[in-house]
Amino acid sequence: MHNPEALAVAWVQSLLAKVRLCASLAVDMPANQSPHLFSAEVLARADALVAQYPERGSAVLPLLHLAQEAQGWVSDAAIEWVAGKTGFAPVEVLGVVTFYPMFRREPCGRRHVRVCRTLSCALRGAYATMEALEGEFGVKCGATSADGAVTLEFVECLAACGSAPVVQVDHALHEGVTADRVPALASALRASLGDADYGKKKTIPDSPEWNG
Ligand code: FES
Repeated sequence: MHNPEALAVAWVQSLLAKVRLCASLAVDMPANQSPHLFSAEVLARADALVAQYPERGSAVLPLLHLAQEAQGWVSDAAIEWVAGKTGFAPVEVLGVVTFYPMFRREPCGRRHVRVCRTLSCALRGAYATMEALEGEFGVKCGATSADGAVTLEFVECLAACGSAPVVQVDHALHEGVTADRVPALASALRASLGDADYGKKKTIPDSPEWNG
């Protein structure tokens, strides 16, 4: 059972961290100032996304996906950038980022490896798949390997339950990845590290979605 006092302290610390973030954003980056985080191509894609919505605030999720695609994670500066593009306060964008588990708040490895652990995948060996990946890359689930090659994480259903167990690497789905198939996947991942386009998400023309 959780200690109520410890929970209260944790809640206050979390609140203070958010207040400090807002204060730093307000001081360091005036509203609507681009932190020049992104390439001209990414900025053009962002403008095109915002233009697709009657209300610019509706573009908050696609813009966060775009920021994460470009940076590999959603930094404080990216939050400020999205806030400037959408008219939200940075703390409101932070609330969106922290609500959805697909957004990362810290840098990850060059390959983001996510193993589904929901029922179908769990029954078909997802935990053994993760153990095999941990052994291959010498890193525990939830962490990034020392060489920065991969970050391993469990996620919930990836909507390919019929092909369980399923592993998503960046935006590429690998189906039927039982533990015995992990060495082949790991070799392919190591070979892909120099490929800048591996698993890259593609924009669907005229669509606000970010489906790969
Ligand atoms: S349970 Fe793993 S993809 Fe649905």
